[in-house]
Amino acid sequence: MPRLDGKTVVVTGANSGLGFEATRALAAKGATVVMACRSVERGADAAAEIRADAGGDTDGALAVRECDLASLGSVASFAEGVEDDYDAVDVLCNNAGVMAIPRRETDDGFETQLGVNHLGHFALTCRLFPLLAAADGVGSDAEEEPGSDASDRDTTGDARVVTQSSGAHERGEMDFTDLNWEESYEKWGAYGRSKLANLLFAYELQRRIDAADDDVGVRSVACHPGYAATNLQLRTARESGNPLATAVMRLANAAFGQDAATGALPLLYAATADVDGGAYVEPGGVLNMRGSPTVGRSNDASYDLDDARRLWEFSTDATGVDLSL
Ligand SMILES: NC(=O)c1ccc[n+]([C@@H]2O[C@H](COP(=O)([O-])OP(=O)(O)OC[C@H]3O[C@@H](n4cnc5c(N)ncnc54)[C@H](OP(=O)(O)O)[C@@H]3O)[C@@H](O)[C@H]2O)c1
Repeated sequence: MPRLDGKTVVVTGANSGLGFEATRALAAKGATVVMACRSVERGADAAAEIRADAGGDTDGALAVRECDLASLGSVASFAEGVEDDYDAVDVLCNNAGVMAIPRRETDDGFETQLGVNHLGHFALTCRLFPLLAAADGVGSDAEEEPGSDASDRDTTGDARVVTQSSGAHERGEMDFTDLNWEESYEKWGAYGRSKLANLLFAYELQRRIDAADDDVGVRSVACHPGYAATNLQLRTARESGNPLATAVMRLANAAFGQDAATGALPLLYAATADVDGGAYVEPGGVLNMRGSPTVGRSNDASYDLDDARRLWEFSTDATGVDLSL
């Protein structure tokens, strides 16, 4: 990764797993990382751990802020706070997620996996977009002037929106008659759909950026980590109601999972390497489940233009926010 001094990166789900390791790596390169966490306490503990591991403090700064993606009000408050305190956001990492949990609803009445994994990030991206468009981005050598504000900035930067999907997008299907899973619910199907939605959104965002009259200076990149042993699988097991599931999941994680720091590499590559907007970064090893990042291709359904447009319309209606380009 390049040095990231003077850059501001927002990471959702920064207190655990891949978001935690990405935060650690970004801060070590000098970035200011805004750790968007649903629990400020867990976020503060994570920041303290990263600082302690770095021998007291990191090269960059860590700022923990509350952002519960299961509440559109919380997302709006978080975005307002970032707007108040930062002139620009160079990278937004839409990383947080939940996997295959029993059906519940967010504060706004959305099935939780679609609500947290997709809709919360959709609203967050739209709200932070002016700050992304105001950023120099990670590819720019331009030094940030102290005290500069958004209106002074070059608008032809290389800011990024990175959206964390999963190989599980391949089992997702967009059923627009029941996106909210009110008629029936299958927890793995709902996870797959939410991860397919991540990709439809990421690619549609890039198409909208490309279609804008002006050079927006933002690119949208998708990624997936392969299989990394994190709290994601343990939460799924805990919530399954099967007392043996946690032990089985721990064994599977130990046998097949790569560590979280390696799993964070596609996210970091998508955020800072020279990749095109609309790219899909994934591990290049066995079955794309492990290894170093490479640019690949997600399944055909994720590039469906009609589904992407319909999902975008559903998402703007559901969240009440849209992208201003
Ligand atoms: N690990 C893998 O093998 C794997 C594979 C494919 C894709 N992914 C994707 O990678 C991403 C990160 O997962 P991970 O493996 O790092 O899992 P993790 O260790 O469980 O981390 C998930 C993060 O998301 C946060 N989160 C959950 N619900 C939230 C909400 N309502 N609002 C804000 N944040 C919330 C969690 O916060 P709390 O700690 O407060 O719960 C946690 O910080 C997810 O999008 C997941 O789908 C992971």
